[in-house]
Amino acid sequence: MLWYRPSFLLTSVVIANASDFSFIQSGPTALHNPVVGFAAEQRETHPSPPGDLSLLSTDRFAVLEHPLFPDYHVRIKKSEFCDGTVGTYTGYIDIQARHLFFYFFESRSDPAKDDVIFWTSGGPGCSSSLSLFMELGPCRVTSPDNTTFNPHSCNEHANVFFVDQPIGVGFSYSEYGETVNTTPDAAKDIAAFIAIFLEHFSQFGGRAFHMAGSSYGGRYIPAFAAEVYGQNAKLIEAGLMPVNLSSIMLGNGCTDWISMVPSWYDMACTPASVAPILDISSCVRMKQAVPRCKDALQKSCIDSYDSLSCGAADMFCQTELSGPLLITDYNIYDISKRCERSLALCYPITEKITSYLDRPDVREQIGVDALVSANFTLCNDDVHAAFSATQDLMFPTRHYVSALLERGVRALVYVGINDWACNWVGNERMLLDLEWTGQDAFVKTPLREWTVNGNVAGLTRRSGALTFATMYGAGHMAPYDKPAESLELTKRWLAGEEL
Ligand SMILES: *[C@@H]1O[C@H](CO)[C@@H](O)[C@H](O)[C@H]1NC(C)=O
Ligand SMILES: *[C@@H]1O[C@H](CO)[C@@H](O)[C@H](O)[C@H]1NC(C)=O
Ligand SMILES: *[C@@H]1O[C@H](CO)[C@@H](O)[C@H](O)[C@H]1NC(C)=O
Repeated sequence: MLWYRPSFLLTSVVIANASDFSFIQSGPTALHNPVVGFAAEQRETHPSPPGDLSLLSTDRFAVLEHPLFPDYHVRIKKSEFCDGTVGTYTGYIDIQARHLFFYFFESRSDPAKDDVIFWTSGGPGCSSSLSLFMELGPCRVTSPDNTTFNPHSCNEHANVFFVDQPIGVGFSYSEYGETVNTTPDAAKDIAAFIAIFLEHFSQFGGRAFHMAGSSYGGRYIPAFAAEVYGQNAKLIEAGLMPVNLSSIMLGNGCTDWISMVPSWYDMACTPASVAPILDISSCVRMKQAVPRCKDALQKSCIDSYDSLSCGAADMFCQTELSGPLLITDYNIYDISKRCERSLALCYPITEKITSYLDRPDVREQIGVDALVSANFTLCNDDVHAAFSATQDLMFPTRHYVSALLERGVRALVYVGINDWACNWVGNERMLLDLEWTGQDAFVKTPLREWTVNGNVAGLTRRSGALTFATMYGAGHMAPYDKPAESLELTKRWLAGEEL
C-alpha cells in the first residue's frame, strides 16, 4: 500500500452509496463516441486487428475494433518514448465511457518470444508511472524535463505493460465522472483490457503471462489474476485464445491487512530490519495493542464482516500501531532513512515525474487525451478515499493467492526489508499461514540466502509454486534501491529458475 501521509490516518467509515454503481450502464452516446477528446482526423480506424504493432503510426492513433468486443476499443500509437531501443506503444483501452491509459514496451531481448508482464502500482490511487519512471521501467525521470535509460528495466527479458488504473488514476479517466471504488470492480476492467489487447495483438497471445504489482498492488494483483483466470472459460467458449496466466509477482505488497497491521510493531520496535527506532514506552503500548487489534480485525472484518465495527477496529489499530511512527520523521517506506517531509512520497524523484508528465510535448508524444487534467496527479486522493470508504483493503486477499496456487499459477512475494508500510514480517506471516496444498512443505523449508554476482541479496524460501524473498538494503520501492538485484530476481523468476 502506498500511503501519502495526509490521508493515512483519515480512514473513516462511510457507507458506500449503491447509486455510485449505476455507471455500469453507460448510455448510447458513450458507445458511439468512444474517443471524445481527440479530433477525428487524428485517428485511423482498423475494422479488424492489424496484428502487427510495428505497422502503427507515431503521430496518429489507430483505433482498433473487434467484432467480439463491440463495447471496447483500443487506441494505440507508436513512439520513441523512454526506451529508444525497442518497440514502444502508448494508448487507451476504451470501455464505453471509461478510458484506461497504458504504456507498452517490447522486450530488449526477444520480443517475438519473451513472456508478457502486466504491471500496476498501488495506492490505491497511484499512477503506474511511479513504478515506471522511478523503479523498473525502461527509463528514469532524472530531471523535470528529461529521462535517462535504465539498464535494469524489467523489459530486459519481457514485454511489459504499465497501466494507470483504476479509472481516475494518472492519465486514465471517465467521461461522466464514473468512479471505481473496489478491487473487484477494477478487476473487471483489467481482465477486459488484457483480453482485448491480446486478441488484437495475437502475436503476444498464448505466451506466459505474468501479473505484477507493488504496494496496494498486493491487494489488486491476486484479485485481477483471479478475474483473468475466470475469464478464460468465457474466452474459450467464444472460440478465443485464453490468457496463459503463468504467475503473480507481489513486490512489497499489502495483501493481507490482518497480517500486516500487527507487524508494524515488529518493524518499529524489534531489530526485524534496523535497530528498534521507537522509544520503549511507545513500544510497550504498541505491544499491548497488538492482540486487541488482531482480535478486533478478525472478529469484525473477517469472521463476520460488519463495516461499522471493522472501521472502528481499523481506526484503533492505525492509531495505536502506526500513529507512533507517523509522528516521527522516519521514512515509512524505508526506516533506515528520514522522510523529506515536504514531499508527498518522501522521494524527490516523485516531483520530477509529475513535472515531466505535465509537459505538453511529452503528453503529445504519448497521446494523452485532451480531457485529462493539465496537472498530473501521481496519487489521486479521491480514488484513495473512495477505496477507503468501501474498506477494500480489509478484504482477506490471501485467499486469492491460495486459490491461484492451487490452480498452478506461481506466486512470488518479494519484499525490501527496510519497508515499514508493507513489510517483510507481515508478508512472511501471511505466507506461513496461507492454507494451500503446499503449506506444510513451505513452512518446513528453511530460509536460505540468495545471491547476485556473489553477493548476498536477501533470504528466500520456496516450495512448489510459492516463493518468498527478502531484499537487503531495499525499501518499499525495492527496484529503486536495488536495481540490479531486482532485475536478476525477475529474470530468474520468469525463467522458472531457483532464486
Ligand atoms: C535528455 O538527455 C539526453 C541524454 O540522456 C540528451 O541527449 C538530450 O539532449 C536531453 N534532452 C533535453 C531536452 O534536455
Ligand atoms: C504457457 O506458458 C508456459 C510457460 O509458463 C508454456 O510452457 C506453455 O507452453 C504455454 N501454453 C500455451 C498454450 O502456449
Ligand atoms: C496547475 O498547477 C499550477 C502550478 O502548480 C497552478 O498554478 C494551477 O492552478 C494548477 N491548475 C489546476 C487546474 O489545478
